[in-house]
Amino acid sequence: MIKEIKNNHLYWDGCDTVELAENYGTPLYVISQTAIENECRALQKDFIKKYDNVHVAYASKAFNNLAMLKIIEKEGLGIDVVSGGELYTAIQAQFPAEHIEFNGNNKSDEELAIAIDYGVGRIIVDGSQELDRIGEICRKKEKKANILFRITPEVDVATHQFISTGQKDSKFGLPLDEEFLFPILQQAITMPEVDFYGIHFHIGSQLFDNTTHLKAAKVALELAVRIKEKFDYEIKELNYGGGFGVRYTQDDQRQSYAYFLDPLMALTEDFCEKNGLKRPAIAIEPGRSIVAEAGITLHTIGSIKTLPHIRKYAAIDGGMTDNVRPGLYQAIYTGMVANKADQPLEETVTISGKACESTDILMKDLQVPLIASGDIFTTFTTGAYGYAMANNYNKLAIPAVVLVNKGQADIIVKRQTYAQIIQNERIPDSLK
Ligand code: LLP
Repeated sequence: MIKEIKNNHLYWDGCDTVELAENYGTPLYVISQTAIENECRALQKDFIKKYDNVHVAYASKAFNNLAMLKIIEKEGLGIDVVSGGELYTAIQAQFPAEHIEFNGNNKSDEELAIAIDYGVGRIIVDGSQELDRIGEICRKKEKKANILFRITPEVDVATHQFISTGQKDSKFGLPLDEEFLFPILQQAITMPEVDFYGIHFHIGSQLFDNTTHLKAAKVALELAVRIKEKFDYEIKELNYGGGFGVRYTQDDQRQSYAYFLDPLMALTEDFCEKNGLKRPAIAIEPGRSIVAEAGITLHTIGSIKTLPHIRKYAAIDGGMTDNVRPGLYQAIYTGMVANKADQPLEETVTISGKACESTDILMKDLQVPLIASGDIFTTFTTGAYGYAMANNYNKLAIPAVVLVNKGQADIIVKRQTYAQIIQNERIPDSLK
């Protein structure tokens, strides 16, 4: 059990959250190592050990730091990175190069050069210019890159439009139009600097229905057949992306990995058999599902105010700076008062952040025990895209991250200091 209630306090992976708040201060991200390991082991059981020639690249954008990458490596998963910064973190964590996949719709020459020097396992190419640039860099360095092309499979998914990525008009991926796509594929097949591995898609995030992955997989498989017909070339790998939804509220009915992956694998194997294709390696790239539910955020309640006949606001010492998702996607979260965990829910409050922005509301009309300044407020399911999207708006400091594991707590990211916030600022001589 990751979440427990003992002595009126919320415990997370064996640690008293009220004590954590006291020891490390708030806001504080608390991440359960056990919960992450459980997710990785579920992927091992339902995918990696169940099927031949498959692998998982954790989409590290969800939560990327040295300790997390160590956990992922230990659990036998690869990673996906999308920037020089994420790649740098992976290199510093000594993450095995061959298990790194490099995604992104605008990789710079500098980023590509670092990736190629380090020898990343795959580069997911997102445009024809990028292919030319990879060719040039590899030629100069006398290296070869394994590439996949990201395509837009033209499926509309049931999620917030801001996190849909597989529709026809998307900044990500290459369109299916053969007149456009095939010359690029032909170039990749014939270029000595790259090994054309296959096709990649990622259709969106926080998905609960498996049908869109299935539709997109069919599109990718049909493309594999067309590639074989046209170029007498069999692709070696298909990457079906991530997007598996997690539970933020009771309305989110989280599905197992098997729910998504069994039909996907069945469809793939069946399609390949019927169409005379050797079944390619299958990769997936889950991010959120591996870490979201492992994480909570602790805040201290500060100012409380009641607007007569309207609502009561309880303000926390963070907000959109440590969790931008409610403001950006109208994301709904649940929470509780960690130091009053056994107490009856007696009032309704709206939890507001402290940033100067009206959308900085964490939760509306939440049932809580009688709330007071100094209470420790917990938000659940903040492990993915919480710390990862933290920002310094209003010059609020990026919170610390503590990793908890069966009663043991370790800081894995220190709290940012005010001095660090302004460390790159300079006063020109003309203003001195
Ligand atoms: N692969 C690619 C190429 C992606 O772009 C993404 C997410 C993933 C894998 C992982 O998707 P996941 O399994 O985490 O759903 N900031 C947004 C989510 C943006 C996701 C972007 N791409 C949020 O907080 O909801």
